[in-house]
This record gives sequence, structure tokens and C-alpha cells, in this order.
Amino acid sequence: MLTSLRELPARKLHGPKLAVLTAYDYPAARMLDEAGIDLILVGDSVGMVVHGLPDTTGVTMEMMLLHTAAVCRAVKRAPVIADMPFASYRSPEEALANARRLMACGASAVKLEGGVSHLAEVRAIVEDGIPFVGHIGMLPQSVKEEGGYKKKGRTEAQISALLADARALDEAGACAMVLESIVPEVAAQITGLVAASTIGIGAGLQTDGQVLVTPDLLGSYPWFRPPFAKARADLAAETTRAVQEYIAEVQAGTAR
Ligand code: KIV
Repeated sequence: MLTSLRELPARKLHGPKLAVLTAYDYPAARMLDEAGIDLILVGDSVGMVVHGLPDTTGVTMEMMLLHTAAVCRAVKRAPVIADMPFASYRSPEEALANARRLMACGASAVKLEGGVSHLAEVRAIVEDGIPFVGHIGMLPQSVKEEGGYKKKGRTEAQISALLADARALDEAGACAMVLESIVPEVAAQITGLVAASTIGIGAGLQTDGQVLVTPDLLGSYPWFRPPFAKARADLAAETTRAVQEYIAEVQAGTAR
């Protein structure tokens, strides 16, 4: 299991693949860390699966700072990546200032969505010595401009753009990059092209690791689960069972 981002290049070369999950609070982060997860992502998916927002564009820096601090208080070993939310990196100065605030909460690295389009912001972060994780492919923060969540890498133009984004982030010094919802063959091509570790989500099996939104893995957000995410527990059903058992016993006068 990973103890430092410095181990990423060796893991890319020799394996095993990186197992990455999201966490947003103290108990979940502590359980993931103690279970041996390689990397923990405080994803801006928190907006949807914790705060009930319709997409991630309503997530603020204040929310990310609060969740990052809670996660970092829990984690003793796994590097923690903190997501930079929508509109928190509109210029190199803003990106650097907000990246520093997340690092001050105890994060090991920051992540933002975009490649060539955000190179100046990425460079400002990396040149300040802050470990950086890229995120390319389907970009949830762009859902409104894109008119939905669409798989990337289906056309020659999309493939060229993805390869250019991956190369640019790699050259800028990203230690890893999330490849989200990318045609598997293109994700495999990017993985072979870059020195950074690729972490796939809905991008096939040939990446250096995989990331999932933890409620999708645990079945604790039953109202939506992406088709590629395999639920390995049914916490929603178990919660309903426990709550209904408690209600029945309280009503019968046999529980306190
Ligand atoms: O916010 C998030 O959870 C993410 C993952 C989907 C990679 O960025």
C-alpha cells in the first residue's frame, strides 16, 4: 500500500495497480486508510453524494476545506488528494492561493479538471512545489457547457485533444491524472504515453489504477450508481433494516 506520492513512479513500472477511493468525512477516511487503500480523494462529488446538489458546480472552497480537514484528521498513512472545486482556479493566482489553502488542511496533493485549457494554473501550482493530480476526459464541472455527461475519445478530434491534454499535464509535472469516462483503448494509449500514473474511472482496465466514488462501492447512495461501478456492499438496505428494527422495538417498548 502507498505511503507517499514519491512511490508512484515505481508503482507505475512494477505494479500493483493503484486502488483509490473518495472520502469526505473522518470515519470513512479512517476506515479506508486502515483497510489499506492506496490514495484517498476528497472529491467534489461530495456535493452530490453528501450535500444532495444536482451536480458539482455548486461545490465551494469552504465545503472542500471543511471536508479535506476532516479527512486529513483521520488519515495516518495514505496520501490525500483534495479536489479544487468549480470556479476556484480561474487564474494562476487564484489557483495557487486556493491550492495552498487545501494543502494547509493537510492534503498531500490537489487536483483540478482540465488539461491544455488550464496549463497556466497547473504550472503555478507545480512551480510552488505543490504535488498536482490532473483530471481529463469527461469533466463533471463542465456538465452545463457540455449538456450532460458524455464519454470522451470517440472521435479523432477528441482523441487528439485528450492526448494533447495528457502530454501537457505530464510535461507540467503532474504526478498522476484521473482519466474519467474515456474510451478504454484511448485510456490505454494515454497510460503508455505519460510518466504520471493514470487513475481510471469508467475508462477500462488498462490504466495504472482505478478510482470509485465510495458510496457507489458501498451501495450507500442507492438513488444513482454509474453502470461501470460495481457495488460490493448494500449499506442502504442494511441501514433501512436497522432503522426499521429500531422503530419497531421503540414502538413495542423493548428498545431505548
Ligand atoms: O469528485 C470526484 O469524486 C472525482 C472522481 C469521480 C474521480 O473527481
